Amino acid sequence: MRVCVIGTGYVGLVTGVCLSHIGHDVICVDNNEEKVKLMKSGQSPIFEPGLSELMTACIQEGRIEFTTDLAKGVEHGEILFIAVGTPPLPTGESDTRYVEAVARGIGAHLNSGYKVIVNKSTVPIGSGDWVRMIVMDGVLERQVATAGGGVAVAEPDVAFDVVSNPEFLREGCAVYDTFNPDRIVLGSNSSRAISMMKELYAPIVARQFAEDKSGPTVPVVVTDLSSAEMVKYAANAFLATKISFINEVANICDRVGADVTQVAKGIGLDSRIGGKFLQAGIGWGGSCFPKDVAALVHTADDYGYEAQLLKAAVSVNDRQRLIAVEKLQQVLKILKGKTVGLLGLTFKPDTDDMRDAPALTIIEHLTRLGTKVKAYDPLVSQTGMRHGLSNVIVETDPERLADGCDALVLVTDWSQFKTLDYTKMATLMNSPILIDGRNYLDQEAIEKAGFRYVGIGR
Ligand code: UDX
Repeated sequence: MRVCVIGTGYVGLVTGVCLSHIGHDVICVDNNEEKVKLMKSGQSPIFEPGLSELMTACIQEGRIEFTTDLAKGVEHGEILFIAVGTPPLPTGESDTRYVEAVARGIGAHLNSGYKVIVNKSTVPIGSGDWVRMIVMDGVLERQVATAGGGVAVAEPDVAFDVVSNPEFLREGCAVYDTFNPDRIVLGSNSSRAISMMKELYAPIVARQFAEDKSGPTVPVVVTDLSSAEMVKYAANAFLATKISFINEVANICDRVGADVTQVAKGIGLDSRIGGKFLQAGIGWGGSCFPKDVAALVHTADDYGYEAQLLKAAVSVNDRQRLIAVEKLQQVLKILKGKTVGLLGLTFKPDTDDMRDAPALTIIEHLTRLGTKVKAYDPLVSQTGMRHGLSNVIVETDPERLADGCDALVLVTDWSQFKTLDYTKMATLMNSPILIDGRNYLDQEAIEKAGFRYVGIGR
């Protein structure tokens, strides 16, 4: 099928490249010329395992094209994805101005022939109908402009439907998640649009590109527009709440002398609970959970409902981000003048993303307390990206990080951190203390290497 993806951020680029890989003819549109130039040369502007390789292959096979020309993309696509950002406003609301600009642009360039316009961006509930309206506005503006101002215009000769198709991609596993989804959610009141979307995703539904090709076909959940939009928020809010829940349990474990990792195993084997997302630590961050939970709380507020549980999940998370600082205070007593080394900076492993990363909160608080903060992160250190990290010395390797530190804090559970030379690192430190902010390392091995090990809730 002919596909156009507008917006080549994280979601748009992964979607465009993966759809091209499964055999569709894709044009990706972005208004950033530099980025388009880079992508044309086969380079991905984001770090995502496996993406560059797929991208290069699709370019070579002539199944994907990158352009700044929206008119060309709209003309090409039978299915048009809107995949631009909806960043949070200070109130927690989503800023939908980019979605609005794209919807208007689609309307302005809509040619004859039926099109499906797909909302892939995480938009406020009810946006599907709003997108339809804005597209129609765009169409009418163009007709008025071409007919000459003030002249009555005929009924627009365009036919399109809007579908909400939320994504559930995890950063660092986005390509894998696209080919191995737990479900595909399609929200629309148009059966024609839904059947085109089913055709688009047929190879993924049939698991042709999945790791386990013999697994059962992927469930497709068809809903109305608002319900599909709500699925995205509810899924992320549930997962964020699940993590806040286990973090609260960890804090109680700390006080009563229980071990949260054993408790998580004990409750996770109950199939009604499930073992995933029960890893206690320094809290959730990233581009999705904080933004989506805040937006859902805000939407509920708009409708006169106080989302108490979600607000509590956020406040537990805010407090949890400081748990590493609290633990440092417990072991070092006075933090002023001490040096603390952070193992990891990104909000999770296998990404270079620092958006809403717990590390930022930890750095801010330690700096305020007069502590010198150093850090080593496998990606941030390598690429030299600073991400506004003004109060931290970024070291180039873990041993330089350990040198002269009074304590280390494992902030991100990068797999590399399992195999560092902790014995050597311990000898380089003023006092070999390790706060494991993700309960990620083997306590016994770390203690054997000469460290005092402090976990979260154990
Ligand atoms: C998330 C959702 O998983 C994905 O479906 C959605 O589309 C986008 O948001 P992502 O933000 O990439 O994906 O990361 P995820 O792996 O879900 O982790 C989010 C945060 O929770 C990270 O900071 C991670 O460290 C933390 N986390 C996760 C925990 O603290 N404990 C856990 O058990 C799991």
